[in-house]
Amino acid sequence: MKLTIAIDGPAGAGKSTIAKILAKNFNIMYINTGSMYRAITLKALEQNIPSGEIEELCRLTDSLDMYFQNDRLILNGEDINDKLSLPEISSKVSHYASIPEIRVRLVKLQREMASKFDVVMDGRDIGTVVLKDAAFKFFLTASPEERAQRRFDELKRKGLDVNYEEILKEIIRRDFLDSNREVDPLRKAEDAIEIDTTGLNINEVVNKMSSYINKTLENIFMGDINE
Ligand code: DC
Repeated sequence: MKLTIAIDGPAGAGKSTIAKILAKNFNIMYINTGSMYRAITLKALEQNIPSGEIEELCRLTDSLDMYFQNDRLILNGEDINDKLSLPEISSKVSHYASIPEIRVRLVKLQREMASKFDVVMDGRDIGTVVLKDAAFKFFLTASPEERAQRRFDELKRKGLDVNYEEILKEIIRRDFLDSNREVDPLRKAEDAIEIDTTGLNINEVVNKMSSYINKTLENIFMGDINE
């Protein structure tokens, strides 16, 4: 059986931290789809391509080679992950991520990655679009204030000079854009398990998810033996 774990939810819900731990524990590959949209945004900004220049953006996307190695996105052979969480990228990425022509291309790439490896993949449309048949689907949420605090702590740890109120405003703005765009908006898949992580630490969330996955796998295994 292929092990495929889909995790969706708004920015700052803890998806990537949790997905990395699950990838390690289950010995599978972690695919951070948000970083793929961020990489397109980074390159578009470097080349001064605005989000309205669809043809040029398609050419740019087609010219990029992306793969994951040890949880990190390698873009044209270069590890650009440190640039991807810069506030300038965070504030523009929703615009580039809402372009259908870019989404089609990245979704295709994400499906190819999942067809080759057992994966845990996180994003906004994984359970609803990219991996509709995923064996496990989770939808993680948390209050905007808690998510803003987590992002603030994370950026501070990276040595960036950040302001909590600005991050909160940015999170609320991005929630709105991601949930209200026309193509593949953020929403919970009907068959996803929703976990509100407000007030929970990372280990508590990982334990909840892991015990659900292990129990389900055990039941499938026992079913196979009894047949
Ligand atoms: O998870 P993140 O904050 O790194 O995501 C960056 C942006 O990309 C966010 O605004 C939503 C968008 N995104 C998306 O539209 N679909 C995905 N599968 C992943 C991210």
